[in-house]
Amino acid sequence: MSELHTPHAGDDMAKDDDVVALLMRQHGDIRNLFDEVEAAKGEERRDAFRRLVRLLAVHETAEEEVVHPFARKGFPGGEQVVKERLAEEKAAKETLSALDETDTDDPKFMPQLLKLRKDVQAHARAEERYEFTHIRRSTDAANLAAMAKAIKAAEAMAPTRPHPGVESGAKNMALGPVAALMDRTKDAVRKAMGK
Ligand SMILES: [Fe+2]
Ligand SMILES: [Fe+2]
Repeated sequence: MSELHTPHAGDDMAKDDDVVALLMRQHGDIRNLFDEVEAAKGEERRDAFRRLVRLLAVHETAEEEVVHPFARKGFPGGEQVVKERLAEEKAAKETLSALDETDTDDPKFMPQLLKLRKDVQAHARAEERYEFTHIRRSTDAANLAAMAKAIKAAEAMAPTRPHPGVESGAKNMALGPVAALMDRTKDAVRKAMGK
């Protein structure tokens, strides 16, 4: 384990049986991973960035499959809140895909990463403020636990970063690596939810 390793969800064996607590912990992990990418160089930066891409892919996909559908109907105004969050997620994915094509040592990498970080953090704050607080008030502990379970199962099943040449199927071949990762994570989330 490198000295740059920062704590991640699960390190302390917390149960995470509340979907909001779990997602907020992931927001913290994402912030820590941005720090790690910024502080590292060379191979370590590449490795930290790879982990950041995977966590972002898993996190955003799980939100889109598990919590946004609930929020849309779960509280007044939910429809509009989710619409705004989805637009932010779409923009972040596009930036992430572009960034993924840039080598981590390229001089263009850091300015793009900082822009992504700013957007991702603004998005996370908006979720916490306008979506998560309402989710918690609009449902019971059993449902919060069920949603957390689906997200954890998806995380466990989600593929690690695809390697060029390992992809199977024309669909994944046509997508960029980030989109392919999200696509496979979506399958894992749906499987975890029994869909
Ligand atoms: Fe999100
Ligand atoms: Fe989020």
